[in-house]
Amino acid sequence: MARAPQRIVLITGGSRGVGAEVAQRLASADTHVIVNYREKAARAETIADAVRAAGGNASTMAADISDGAAAAAMIDTIAARFGRLDALILNASGGLELGADPGYAMRLNRDAQRRLARLAMPLLPAGGRIVFVTSHQAHFFPHKAVPKGYSAVAASKRAGETALYTMRPQLERAGIHLSVVSGDMIDGTIIVRLLERRDPGAVEARRSVAPLPTVGQFASAIANAVTTPMPTGIVYVGGADYLATTG
Ligand SMILES: NC(=O)c1ccc[n+]([C@@H]2O[C@H](COP(=O)([O-])OP(=O)(O)OC[C@H]3O[C@@H](n4cnc5c(N)ncnc54)[C@H](OP(=O)(O)O)[C@@H]3O)[C@@H](O)[C@H]2O)c1
Repeated sequence: MARAPQRIVLITGGSRGVGAEVAQRLASADTHVIVNYREKAARAETIADAVRAAGGNASTMAADISDGAAAAAMIDTIAARFGRLDALILNASGGLELGADPGYAMRLNRDAQRRLARLAMPLLPAGGRIVFVTSHQAHFFPHKAVPKGYSAVAASKRAGETALYTMRPQLERAGIHLSVVSGDMIDGTIIVRLLERRDPGAVEARRSVAPLPTVGQFASAIANAVTTPMPTGIVYVGGADYLATTG
């Protein structure tokens, strides 16, 4: 008889890119991966199928996390179905979309992240994890240059990271561990293709330092922040020059 999953993990924005890869890396008989998506149901279902094909358990849940009611409904559904959540991976992000209104980046990358962490807290047991996914361009903002057109996203993701840090006292009291996984530009992603169009020099400058990390390398660090017995506060993937010159 199949064992009941021991670890329930919610990943936001798991329908494509980095999140989809993380979901698949978490495939395991003792884990149930909840693949959140905004609108691409078929893509999310394909990822859930891949998790199951690899011997894991998975389901999909639609919610635009920038919509407070939708985020709360998703957490209510998880509470009703599983009764708990062992890890929340805050991966979904945005703001570079054409036509996004000027406040959208802050609503999604700061407000929605903080709200989802707060909503999830009652479901996270002691030993539970929250993993915030960010970019070096945001994590080090405003101390390092960012590609043209990325400042609003960098500022909002940095504000999201800071907002989560302000929750640390409550998280620590509840025994919940917060990790941040920050990556340099990730090779082959839609975001890097967008940046390459808007500011090719900025992407080339990163490539000239070292090969950009792959989606697999970044996803593996994020999945590891959920599964490692000894989580750390921050994990950097690529961009060693950022670390060397920050003091
Ligand atoms: N790509 C890079 O070079 C890079 C580098 C460092 C860090 N990161 C970080 O890695 C994470 C993932 O990046 P990515 O490149 O995989 O991004 P991506 O390709 O743009 O994928 C974003 C994912 O988030 C979902 N999403 C967007 N808005 C949402 C919302 N309001 N509610 C719920 N889901 C939403 C999308 O769902 P739909 O498909 O339904 O729209 C999609 O699944 C982000 O936090 C990003 O900052 C990326």
